[in-house]
Amino acid sequence: MTSELITVAVPKGRLLDESSHLFERAVGVSPKALLTGTRKLHADAPGAGLRFISIRAADVASYVEHGAAAVGVAGLDVLREEPRDLYEPLDLGIGRCSVIVAWPRGMKPLPKGVAPRIATKYSNLASRHFALKGLPAEIIHLHGSIEVAPSLGLADGIVDITETGETLKANGLVVAEEVLAVSARLIVNRVALKLHAERLRRLIDALRLAVGATAQHGR
Ligand code: PRP
Repeated sequence: MTSELITVAVPKGRLLDESSHLFERAVGVSPKALLTGTRKLHADAPGAGLRFISIRAADVASYVEHGAAAVGVAGLDVLREEPRDLYEPLDLGIGRCSVIVAWPRGMKPLPKGVAPRIATKYSNLASRHFALKGLPAEIIHLHGSIEVAPSLGLADGIVDITETGETLKANGLVVAEEVLAVSARLIVNRVALKLHAERLRRLIDALRLAVGATAQHGR
């Protein structure tokens, strides 16, 4: 963090478009526009007092927790999979999706006493979910392409994120239950919140208004 600019970590990928619209509405600057075409992965918006950095979605919370960025945008899935010491002041209402349990369509029940093998990149959420239900499950941790695991015999079912449901459908899987309803949250480093209380309060308030306006009028 520099003394002049507040560093904001914005996720690459799916959330970049929607979070850029919110920042544009809130502070008049689009991180996507600023970061497009640069390999530097950071871009300054001195007029707004902000520096944007472009970070993988799964890493944003680490940057903010350790103070390398004061503020970030992160999905609730990531935040609940690996809880961290962060301030979460605002549901941004973007990146809506679900973490779900899904099984192959028409799957026969497993023999009594056999723990299902569950492929997932959300090992903690999945373990907690099955433990809360009192069902033993064997968790197989993967990093992506989770939906293909059952058809290859690697797992019986999956816990993964779904948005449109297209990937599940294309892989012959059906949703059994929701584990977590997800949207993106604004996250803030706790020390930064004390050091830059006034500026961060203003940023959070501006984003809250932008979220409200987007909900009312769309983009
Ligand atoms: C996520 C998720 C599914 C897909 C679901 O993958 O893991 O594969 O999106 O989207 P849908 O319901 O709209 O089809 P992501 O794109 O994050 O990539 P990954 O396979 O690397 O996890």
